[in-house]
Amino acid sequence: MILMHSLCQTLRQARPKTPEILQEIILDAVRPFLYHGKNHCSFPEIAQVIMRNVVAVINQKGGTGKTTTTINLGACLAYQGYRTLLVDLDPQAHTTIGIGADPDTFEVSMAEVMSIPKKPITDVVLPTYIPGLFLAPSHIRLARAAEMAYTRVFREAILAQALNGADYDFIIIDCPPSLGVLTTNSLYACDFILIPCQISRYSLDGLADLITTIETIKGLDPEQLFQGDHFRILLTMFDRRNRVTNEYILEQLRPYRDKTFTTLVMKNEALNQAQIAQKAIFDFDPKSSGAQDYQQLTEEFLELCRKRNSFPEKRPNWQSCP
Ligand SMILES: Nc1ncnc2c1ncn2[C@@H]1O[C@H](COP(=O)(O)OP(=O)(O)O)[C@@H](O)[C@H]1O
Ligand SMILES: [Mg+2]
Repeated sequence: MILMHSLCQTLRQARPKTPEILQEIILDAVRPFLYHGKNHCSFPEIAQVIMRNVVAVINQKGGTGKTTTTINLGACLAYQGYRTLLVDLDPQAHTTIGIGADPDTFEVSMAEVMSIPKKPITDVVLPTYIPGLFLAPSHIRLARAAEMAYTRVFREAILAQALNGADYDFIIIDCPPSLGVLTTNSLYACDFILIPCQISRYSLDGLADLITTIETIKGLDPEQLFQGDHFRILLTMFDRRNRVTNEYILEQLRPYRDKTFTTLVMKNEALNQAQIAQKAIFDFDPKSSGAQDYQQLTEEFLELCRKRNSFPEKRPNWQSCP
């Protein structure tokens, strides 16, 4: 009631001229109700409006670079001064392990967030070794939690509700290699979709299914999906020597050209080794091509955020990229 009253008053006074200004006014009005104390709002629809920098890293195929992208995009954003949360939504817990956490050392994880009603994500968040980078860790128990979630009402909205009030500039969700309930939860909660595609003969198989799933969960028709900046494809493990394969894939991707990051992530052994060393590439080998590619991806991503009017203020006192 109080929210509606103050919103109507503001709208009457401001008379917004563009949809962007209207959106800003609505966000300003609902923000305190979402973020503070007793008036905590639990409507997933409003949560979707407020969380403008939630990125779902999705591809139902395994081994396409989802985890590598989640860790290194997140690390680079944190090193640039943005408070960033990595959400590990894959029961295999590769992001959790890859950023240096041990799944056997914490008691609560995304498994509990996805299985205990109204459990906020903030209950499970851990700091990482990078200042400004936080982790909502995964555990193998998440596989069972996902099975149980199928019986719940509004099962697609569990994660969106859990993210209510999570105060981060960016939230990046690493998804499992499937289009099951965990992936649909991250699609529901996110406002931007990053699809890493490995450059190989079969890399584009399943892309049409993924696009259809995105349209269904987001309630967009194909035209709306392609008009807005809802998603981008990221080409990973690019090897210039494989000229014929590269040409074939780039030809297949022609309809998606506007929706593909110009940054290419080259095949780079240092990225592989960094994951084994449980470090972001910037700390493992800052001079590697992998570090440069993920730095460039972060710049391109931030530029896109600027374009989409979802660019947060930097938070002071965090170190810059090494
Ligand atoms: N650009 C790259 N060059 C070389 N190896 C890579 C690159 N990106 C990822 N890898 C490696 O490929 C494997 C799969 O990557 P990963 O990010 O775990 O994929 P996903 O999360 O989609 O399953 C991992 O061993 C990772 O270290
Ligand atoms: Mg993974």
